[in-house]
Amino acid sequence: VLAVAGLSAISAAQAADLTVGFSQIGSESGWRAAETTVTKSEAGARGITLKIADAQQKQENQIKAIRSFVAQGVDAIFVAPVVATGWDTVLSEAKDAEIPVVLLDRSIETANPDLYLTAVTSDTVHEGRVAGEWLAKTVGDRDCPIVELQGTVGSSPAINRKKGFDEVVAAHDNLKLIRSQTGDFTRAKGKEVMESFLKAEGGGKSICALYAHNDDMAVGAIQAIKEAGLKPGQDILVVSIDAVPDIFKAMMDGEANATVELTPNMAGPAFDAILAYKDKGTVPPKWIQTDSKLYTQADDPAAVYKSKQGLGY
Ligand code: AHR
Repeated sequence: VLAVAGLSAISAAQAADLTVGFSQIGSESGWRAAETTVTKSEAGARGITLKIADAQQKQENQIKAIRSFVAQGVDAIFVAPVVATGWDTVLSEAKDAEIPVVLLDRSIETANPDLYLTAVTSDTVHEGRVAGEWLAKTVGDRDCPIVELQGTVGSSPAINRKKGFDEVVAAHDNLKLIRSQTGDFTRAKGKEVMESFLKAEGGGKSICALYAHNDDMAVGAIQAIKEAGLKPGQDILVVSIDAVPDIFKAMMDGEANATVELTPNMAGPAFDAILAYKDKGTVPPKWIQTDSKLYTQADDPAAVYKSKQGLGY
């Protein structure tokens, strides 16, 4: 595991010869849009030609895009895999064409890790644990029925953020997960599913906390909680993941309580790894791990909100 580094000292002339194809998932969340923006600017800063294909949340579109990048003979392929399984065939094709593949922000399940050069991701199990531990500490011994909004079914962050959180719940008798459903990482579905949770729980007065696998779903759910006549952040605690500016706005209003930061800059370390690999044959570690930092209402959300401006958001 390597900590993320800044811009490498590799020559601009060498970087300018490089074309990278990026199969991006889509634009399901504020975080995702920022990741796309940052990837463009990180490529630009290094003089790298970037070709982006938007898969509109579909794995089949990503597979098509990867095949097209292979046919075009790009120098490297970046993929943010929408789901964790089903990549071996297409990644074997890239390997046969000797095109290195870098996984961005999501991991895959494969029996052959040689199919990709490296993965730049956070520890998504740890993120779930951090969210769970914040909740356990905040509620103390009080009984706490929790509802969970999961990310995209079959995606590595949805699987792992659930796993990490579930571990904490299992270790505390007073924490109880009463409802859990996917909101597909979107604001609209987060709101819709939260509405159904509130209805199913007789208006929601008995719900102690919401755990959302990303901030966008939390923001949608906050709206649903308000429309149900309850106070998000007080009647129902809200903890989520990403640290996008909108969740800090909600924290400023007392409507969200905590978030775990996911950097949208996965591409910087990925470009550096590819440049070092192409230039000097340096093989990067299999996992380049990005940081996960907890923010709460005690962390001056207004200042954090301001500091996020210009970072792709
Ligand atoms: O893979 C990262 C996740 O994807 C982000 O947490 C979420 O916002 C996005 O859609």
